[in-house]
Order: sequence, then C-alpha cells, then structure tokens
Amino acid sequence: MAKASSESRTTIPTSYGKYPRRIPSFMFLHSPKLFVYLLAMITILFILQAPPSTSWDFMHQWEKPFFTTKSTPQVLQHYNCSQELKSMVSKLQEAVTFLPLKDLRYSSKALQGHTWFMSSMFDTHEKGEVQYQEFPSKASKGRLLCLKGRDTHDGSWNLYALAWPQALPPNATLKKGLTFISYNHYNYDNIWHGLSSMVPFIAWHIKNRCSNSPTRWFLYHWGELRTTMGPWLSSLMQATFGERLNIENFQKTEGENQTSPTCFAKSVVMRHNEGGMSRERRLQVYDLLRCKARIFCNVTTISEVNETGVPIIGMTLFMRTGPRSFKNESAVIGIFQKACRKVEGCRLGVAYANNLSFCEQVKLMSLTDVLVSPHGAQLTNMFLMDRNSSVMEFFPKGWLKLAGIGQYVYHWIASWSGMNHCGAWRDPGGERCPFAEDDRRCMSVYKNARIGHNESYFYEWGRNVLRDVKLRKGQGVLKKSGSSGSGSGSCGC
Ligand SMILES: *[C@@H]1O[C@H](CO)[C@@H](O)[C@H](O)[C@H]1NC(C)=O
Ligand SMILES: *[C@@H]1O[C@H](CO)[C@@H](O)[C@H](O)[C@H]1NC(C)=O
Ligand SMILES: *[C@@H]1O[C@H](CO)[C@@H](O)[C@H](O)[C@H]1NC(C)=O
Ligand SMILES: *[C@@H]1O[C@H](CO)[C@@H](O)[C@H](O)[C@H]1NC(C)=O
Ligand SMILES: *[C@@H]1O[C@H](CO)[C@@H](O)[C@H](O)[C@H]1NC(C)=O
Ligand SMILES: *[C@@H]1O[C@H](CO)[C@@H](O)[C@H](O)[C@H]1NC(C)=O
Ligand SMILES: *[C@@H]1O[C@H](CO)[C@@H](O)[C@H](O)[C@H]1NC(C)=O
Ligand SMILES: *[C@@H]1O[C@H](CO)[C@@H](O)[C@H](O)[C@H]1NC(C)=O
Ligand SMILES: *[C@@H]1O[C@H](CO)[C@@H](O)[C@H](O)[C@H]1NC(C)=O
Repeated sequence: MAKASSESRTTIPTSYGKYPRRIPSFMFLHSPKLFVYLLAMITILFILQAPPSTSWDFMHQWEKPFFTTKSTPQVLQHYNCSQELKSMVSKLQEAVTFLPLKDLRYSSKALQGHTWFMSSMFDTHEKGEVQYQEFPSKASKGRLLCLKGRDTHDGSWNLYALAWPQALPPNATLKKGLTFISYNHYNYDNIWHGLSSMVPFIAWHIKNRCSNSPTRWFLYHWGELRTTMGPWLSSLMQATFGERLNIENFQKTEGENQTSPTCFAKSVVMRHNEGGMSRERRLQVYDLLRCKARIFCNVTTISEVNETGVPIIGMTLFMRTGPRSFKNESAVIGIFQKACRKVEGCRLGVAYANNLSFCEQVKLMSLTDVLVSPHGAQLTNMFLMDRNSSVMEFFPKGWLKLAGIGQYVYHWIASWSGMNHCGAWRDPGGERCPFAEDDRRCMSVYKNARIGHNESYFYEWGRNVLRDVKLRKGQGVLKKSGSSGSGSGSCGC
C-alpha cells in the first residue's frame, strides 16, 4: 500500500473490500458508473440551491444564527449577540433534566455491576484504583451534579441532574466546597457495612494526596436520604478528615424546598464500596485509617517489650453480649488464659464491644496481636491492630451451610487490611432447628444463636497461633505502625 500515491493511479474507497482499490485514472472517463454518479451529484447540487419551501424555511429558522453569522456579515447587524446568548442560557437551564436517583429498572440486580443509583452515569475506573464519579470533570464535560428531593422512604422520588455552572436549573442553590455523596446498599449504622461504603472516599482522598476534606456529606441508601451514621463510623471519619462530619439533611437551610435543586461546586459520588481496588490500594486505605485513629485517640507509641526485654504479645478476647456470645464465657476465658500462660510475654485481655467508646476500641486494638472474637460487627475493629496481627473467629452451628458468602466478610477485611485470619471455629452443637438441618428456615434459629466451646481444640489452636506470633515477633517482622509516619500527623499522606 506504500505505493498507493503513485502518480498514475488514484485510490478510491470501495464497498467491495476492506482496503481501497487502485484504479488507473483514465478509467474514470469511460466508466458508465461514473457518469451516473456525476449526474446524481449535479442533481443534488441543483436541489440544494433551489429556494426552500415555506415549511422547510420555518423548521430551520433556529439554525440561522449559527450558520449565517460567520459567513454573512450583513446578518450580524440585525443580530444581537448578548440577547441571543441570554436566551440560549435560559434554554440550557430549562433543558436540565432530572432523573430518579433510584432506577427501578435495575431493582432486580441492584448489586450487580450497574447499580440502580444514578444509573445513567458511568464511573471513572483505572485498573486497581477506586471507582468514582467526580463533578465537574472531563467525564461530566464540565457539568456539576444537582440533587432534588429528600425522600427517606422511596429513592425513586429523589432526583439528580447534571448542569453547566453557567446554566444551573432555575431556583438552584449552589453549595460551595467539596461534597461527598455516598450510596450504600445496606446501612450506615452497622460498622462493617458503613465502613465498606467509606473506603472508596478514603481511597479518593489518598489519590488526591489528602489535599481537601469534605465540607458536607450526603448519605443514600437505595436512593433514600439518610441523615445519621453510627457513632463508631462518624468518629473514624472525624479522625480521618480532622473535622466533625456535616451530614446534610436538606432541611437545615431555610428556603430549600423539595422542588428547588441543590447543585454542588465540587462533588464526588461513590457507589461501589471497595470494588475494583487493588490489594495495595486497600492496604493504603486501612493504614491511613489506623494511623489517623491512633492520633485522634492519643494512642502514642506502644512499648513492644516488657521491662526485662521480653517481647509482649497481646491476646484479646473481644466478647459479645446476647446474640452470638459464648454460652460459657468463664470457660472460654479459662482456656485461653491457660494457652497464654504457656507463651512467654503473652498478656490476656478480656473486653466487651458493647460498652467501649471508639477511642477505647482504638487503644485496645493497638495493644492486641491476637484478636479472639465471635463472628460479628465488632471484628471490623481488626484493621486497627498493627499490620500482620492475627484473628481467630467463632461461628454458631449452621452458618457454614446457610449463611451465604456474607459470613466471610472478616476473612476479606483481614486480607484487605493486611491481617492474618487464622481460621474459624464452627460450633458443631447448638440449638435444634425444627426443620431439616440445611433448610433455609433454620437460619433464623442459627443466626443469633450462642456459641459453645471445645476445650482441647481452643487450647491447641490458641497455643499454635501464639507460638506463630511469638516466632514472628522474635524475628522483628511485626512493626509497630502506630508511630510510623504519624509524627507529623499526616500519616504519610
Ligand atoms: C442587545 O440587547 C441588550 C439587552 O437585551 C442591550 O442592552 C444592547 O444594547 C443590545 N445591543 C445591540 C447592539 O443592540
Ligand atoms: C422559582 O421560585 C419562584 C419563587 O420562589 C417560583 O415562583 C417559581 O415557580 C420557581 N421556579 C421553578 C422552576 O421552580
Ligand atoms: C419554598 O416554599 C415556600 C412555601 O411552601 C415558599 O414560600 C418559598 O418561596 C419557597 N422557596 C423557594 C426557594 O422556592
Ligand atoms: C488527646 O489529647 C489532646 C491534648 O492533650 C486532648 O485535647 C484531647 O481531648 C485528647 N483526645 C482524646 C480522644 O483523648
Ligand atoms: C462453665 O464452664 C466451667 C468450666 O468448664 C464450669 O465449671 C461451669 O459449670 C460452666 N458453667 C455453665 C453454666 O455451664
Ligand atoms: C517480662 O516477661 C517475662 C515473660 O513473661 C517475665 O518472666 C518477666 O518477669 C517480665 N518482666 C517484668 C519486669 O514484668
Ligand atoms: C461492659 O459490659 C459487660 C457485659 O455486659 C459487663 O460485664 C462489664 O462490667 C461492662 N463494663 C463496664 C465498664 O461497664
Ligand atoms: C474437640 O476438638 C477435638 C480436636 O481438637 C476433637 O477431636 C473432638 O472430637 C472435639 N470434641 C467435640 C465434643 O466436638
Ligand atoms: C507481614 O508478614 C510478612 C511475612 O509473614 C512480611 O513479609 C511482611 O513484610 C509483614 N508486613 C508488615 C507490615 O510487617
């Protein structure tokens, strides 16, 4: 094809093949096809130059300013630019189209790829990075995000739209600063589900070198507005961003009616939790959270060895009360005490998740190398331990078969935050279910059942985990990350 431009040949595209064919130039004069072609061209040109019919003329009135101003100067004299510009802007304003935040077409597959939240929008996603939407941005063609509605029961009544800053919808309020808009399929009170929906914001924050913190938050669940976040989670976010959270409810400011839109000078929307993030990115997020939480709670450098230079190993039994608590706590404590006494430097602690403040939990985790705890939200705290610490988890009967994939969330968070999940013990005995063992209806019996114990198993398991930790501590593999990079308070971000 390099010779295609040789003088004796002309290249024309044809419909016969993928590549242009070469036809000798003299062929044009004799080709009957070419003659028909030329005739057709002349006819078309003639039609185009003929005066248009009146209806044609009317329909294309609107084209005039655009198509005539540049080429025919005499039109400019009658044409007032600033007036036309104003009219165009008001048309743009009226053209802003609001769509429901919750798209019912996706209600059957809300958890798959494309969520029902702001379904017309696509996320920005580079490989291994957080999936996010940012407004204004290149992807939004410079448009801002606007929201309308504050329904707390039906997300399809709440609306969103994109608008250029010069042509915001009528009666819109423009909110300055950075706005975080979160979509959560579960809720903001459960610390596991809440944290999952915060992780992408932290990743975005790190991506932006922690340069700005959100001025306000909008929390949505199925498109419905939520105005609170659990105290543990809001403390963690306050620790991370250095300010008390300002969660918007659309009602704080006077004159903001259901029908008047609110637009945001800069906003970030997250709807996919950790989805798409690489292991490295996730580790960065949990490292930042841990470091910020320790600074916030005044947890200073922790002594790694006791007065005689023996490395300290903290083992914490993190107990639950009520659902999924141990049936015989004193027996369980006794077993792990015995295992702990066998390992030099081991210190056993027993704590209850229900009555510890956020900072008490942060402090406790900073002293813990081995976290022993039943399956439950309190295990989310594990990322607050130093990296490479260990987790031992306990389940009531029946969960393995019936609880679904969700039972592995603490395996996941261990992996994402760089902890060692040392496996789970599953109670072989427990409450009897009136149906067959693997009947789904049994889950209601098993879900919140209490957990028994197996003395020999717990003891052996505890000793093995402690021995392993001791070995690694002796080799200096475990690094106290509490103080690393936190000297400046920036946590390396
Ligand atoms: C164009 O219209 C604006 C207001 O509609 C007016 O102030 C301005 O004088 C007009 N300019 C011309 C050149 O007519
Ligand atoms: C804007 O607000 C005014 C008065 O507050 C109201 O009369 C008007 O209908 C509103 N316009 C729209 C499009 O909501
Ligand atoms: C909001 O609604 C009230 C009446 O319900 C009205 O008086 C007020 O003008 C409205 N404000 C805006 C900004 O539309
Ligand atoms: C941390 O220490 C500072 C200064 O000593 C104090 O103002 C703050 O209340 C402490 N925070 C906590 C959570 O103890
Ligand atoms: C709990 O376990 C201890 C030690 O194994 C035992 O002495 C005690 O009777 C048990 N308590 C109950 C209520 O079963
Ligand atoms: C340090 O720990 C070792 C092993 O547990 C113990 O023997 C020793 O007494 C401890 N020293 C102090 C001062 O507590
Ligand atoms: C915390 O709760 C546990 C279990 O309900 C209880 O035994 C313990 O005394 C409580 N601790 C405090 C400090 O309230
Ligand atoms: C307790 O665990 C041991 C293994 O450590 C096992 O051999 C034994 O059968 C278990 N006991 C019960 C009652 O499940
Ligand atoms: C965790 O342990 C592994 C080996 O078990 C080691 O390669 C890694 O560097 C450790 N990570 C940290 C943060 O200490």
